[in-house]
Amino acid sequence: MRDSPAMECPFKSGDEPAYYGSYLAVDKLLELQTPLSLTEGKLGAHDEMLFIIIHQTYELWFKQILHELQACCEVLGKPSADDDGPDMNVVVHRLKRIVEIWKLLNHQVDVLETMTPLDFLDFRSSLEGASGFQSTQFRQIEATLGLRMENRFRPDYYKHTEIGGFKPADLKVITDAEQETSLLKLVEQWLARMPFFDETFWKGWDEKGGEPARGNGQRFWNKYRKLYDASLSDRDEKADLLGKFDETFFKTGAGDFSPAALRAALFIMLYRDEPLFRLPFALLNSLIEIDEQLANFRYRHLQMVRRMIGTRIGTGGSSGEQYLQGAVNKNYVYKELAGVITYLIERRNLPQLPKRLHQALRFSGRGD
Ligand code: HEM
Repeated sequence: MRDSPAMECPFKSGDEPAYYGSYLAVDKLLELQTPLSLTEGKLGAHDEMLFIIIHQTYELWFKQILHELQACCEVLGKPSADDDGPDMNVVVHRLKRIVEIWKLLNHQVDVLETMTPLDFLDFRSSLEGASGFQSTQFRQIEATLGLRMENRFRPDYYKHTEIGGFKPADLKVITDAEQETSLLKLVEQWLARMPFFDETFWKGWDEKGGEPARGNGQRFWNKYRKLYDASLSDRDEKADLLGKFDETFFKTGAGDFSPAALRAALFIMLYRDEPLFRLPFALLNSLIEIDEQLANFRYRHLQMVRRMIGTRIGTGGSSGEQYLQGAVNKNYVYKELAGVITYLIERRNLPQLPKRLHQALRFSGRGD
C-alpha cells in the first residue's frame, strides 16, 4: 500500500527518493568547520574545532529565533489580531519556543567552558579583529525584540566599521532591522487598544465609592490606587512608589510604553485568572522571560569571558569584561513591562469587576 501524501517522509525532496543527508545538506554543513590552526591534516589547536562548532550552533539557533520573531511580528501587525483566538495562541506558542531555545543556548556555555584559558590561547591570536560582538543575527534579534540604540550601553560602539566593528553591509542589515516596527512596539499598540475600559462595562460600578465618574475605568483606578497604598508596608518608600504609580499609569508611561498600555498590562496581570486573559498574560510573561534568558546569556557569557581572558581587552577591541558587564546591566528590552509587577496587590484584595466585564472575560459574549 502506498503512503498517503500526508504520511510521506519529511526528508523527501522532488521526485528523488528521500535521503537524510541530501535533505539536510549534511555534506555542505560539515564542510563549514575550518579551523585556522589546521595544518597538514592535524589540528594545531585541538579546541578550535569546539570554538567554531559552538559559534555555528549559536548562529543556527539565532536564525530560528529570528524566524519565530518575524512570524510573531506579522501576526501582531494585523489590525484585526484577536486576543483570545488562534492569532494570540500562535504568538504565545512561538514566544515560548524562543524561551526554550535561549535556555538551551545558555546551557551551551557549560560546554565551551570545558576549554581552558591555555587551550584558548593556542589559537586566540588568529582571531584578532573578530568577535561575537559582530554577530549580525544577534543584533537583529535585539532590534526585532525592541532594544533601541539610545537605550544600549555604549551606543557609540555599534556604529563603527573599523577593525572590531561591523562590515558596512552587515551594519546596513542591523540599521534596517532597527527601522522596522519592533515586537515591543506591536505589543505596546496591542495593549493600548484593549477594550476593557470602555465606559459601557463600568457604568454604575462602585458608585458608593464617592469618586466622580470620569470615564475609561477611572473609578477602578482611583480605587486601585487606594488599595495599592494600603498594601504598602512601613518599610516601603510610600511617597516614592505612589508618585511612580501616577507617573507610570497616568502621566508619562515608562520607556516605550504609554500609560494606557501599562494600565492594560497591570490589569491583565491582576485578573490573569479570567479565561480571556490567560493568553494575554502568557504573552506578557513570555516576553519578560525572553528578556530574562537574554540577560542570563549576557551574564553567563561574561562569567565565561572572565575565566577565559581575565580583564584583557576583547578580540573585537572593546574593554572586554567592563563592556560586557555594562551590557548585562543596561541592555534589557522589557524592563518596564517587568516593572509593572511592583504595583500588584494581593489577589484577595482585588476589586470585583462589573458584572458585564466579568461576563465578557468569560467567553460568554462581550458587554451584555
Ligand atoms: C572563548 C570564548 C569567548 C570569549 C573569550 C568571548 C569574548 C568576548 C568579548 C571580550 C566580547 C566583547 C567584545 C570584544 O571586544 O570582543 C564579546 C562579545 C560578544 N560575544 Fe563573545 N566570547 C566568547 C564566546 C562567545 C560565544 C560562543 C558566543 C555565541 C554566539 C559569543 C557571543 C558574543 C556576543 C553576542 C557578544 C556581544 C555581547 C553584547 O554586546 O551584549 N561569544 N565576547
